[in-house]
Amino acid sequence: MVLVLVIIIISSVLIGRKRLLKSRYKRLRLLKESEAKYRNLVESMDDSVFVIDSNRKVLYANSKLSKLLHQTSENICGKSINDLFPGNGVKRLMRCIDVVFEVGEIDKIEFKTTINHEVYWLETTLIPRYRHNTSDYIILAISRNTTERRKMEDDLKSLIGTLKSQQETLKLLSSEVIRAQEAERKRISRELHDEVGQALTAISINLELIRQDSVAMKNLKQRIHDCKNLVEKTIEDLHRVTYELRPAMLDDLGLLPAFRSHAKNYEKRTGITIHIDGPEEIEQLDSEIKTVIYRVFQEGLNNVVKHAQANRVKIHIEMNRGKVIFSISDNGKGFNTRSLLRKKPEERGLGLQGISERVRIVGGHLHLKSKPRQGTILQVDIPVAKA
Ligand SMILES: Nc1ncnc2c1ncn2[C@@H]1O[C@H](COP(=O)(O)OP(=O)(O)OP(=O)(O)O)[C@@H](O)[C@H]1O
Ligand SMILES: [Mg+2]
Repeated sequence: MVLVLVIIIISSVLIGRKRLLKSRYKRLRLLKESEAKYRNLVESMDDSVFVIDSNRKVLYANSKLSKLLHQTSENICGKSINDLFPGNGVKRLMRCIDVVFEVGEIDKIEFKTTINHEVYWLETTLIPRYRHNTSDYIILAISRNTTERRKMEDDLKSLIGTLKSQQETLKLLSSEVIRAQEAERKRISRELHDEVGQALTAISINLELIRQDSVAMKNLKQRIHDCKNLVEKTIEDLHRVTYELRPAMLDDLGLLPAFRSHAKNYEKRTGITIHIDGPEEIEQLDSEIKTVIYRVFQEGLNNVVKHAQANRVKIHIEMNRGKVIFSISDNGKGFNTRSLLRKKPEERGLGLQGISERVRIVGGHLHLKSKPRQGTILQVDIPVAKA
């Protein structure tokens, strides 16, 4: 009886052990399978993967890293991180590794290294892990080669730098061109006025004298009369041209008198009523700003005659919070400003582009408000430097 009991106990112990062995064997097989699966995955990755122990030495390196470093995985394992990535950038990587070991949290760093005389940028994610069945930390590092991206970013930066400096040069040039154009206009206007104008006036006076002397010669008299008319018409045209180029009044009397004088001629020519309103303090403005405003005024009025079909125009100028604000409003047919902006620069007129550039050069802005059938407001504001 006792023997039977002993046999039963022994056989159940043996069966239990066999089962235990079987399940342990199964677990080991599964572990090996999963390890092989992960190894395959890591080996097929496009990134370099390596494991670092607490002595900053490599425990494992995938084939991508060995390709990058031109060394076999066996060679890499056991080497210190410091020796694997030559150059100063590795110092930053080492500091980051220290922090990850200390804090136990994932971190990321992009560092530079020179391998076989070639510069590489590696964006590296550092993931802390416990070493199997121990309380020691290891770090799983995944490095992505970002050299191309860095190169492109650097190229882009230098391209933007070049573009910016070219833009600055262009700005400078265009402001120089406008300044030179203004000086030239002033000179031509003065010359036409002083030289040609005075000469024509003298001719006109002489002709009048001849006419009075040659009472008997009828034909000659008629010709001289025609001639005189022609000269007078030329004087009138000359005044208009010199005025358009640059009214002497702008320099001699100021902006508001120049507005008024131009408006008077304009009203006579077009039948459009112009109302001007502005304070005398405007005349204290810098001559360059006054010239810009005068050019806006001229182009604004030209546009009203050309496009607006208006019968009233309001000119308003004021000083407000360190800015001079100037506007021209008409009661004409208006237009769609958006469709103007949608046009290519070469398809647009030059008038608004030209004055917008002039305004920009003195640090101001040009605003255009218009809608079909609701008139147009052209406004500029220009900051005024304190004296
Ligand atoms: N006061 C206005 N009323 C109606 N339309 C206007 C007015 N001002 C400008 N526009 C519209 O804006 C467009 C652009 O004006 P801009 O002065 O730039 O060119 P332009 O007068 O056509 O040609 P340019 O000034 O070179 O002789 C005009 O063609 C016109 O359609
Ligand atoms: Mg125009």
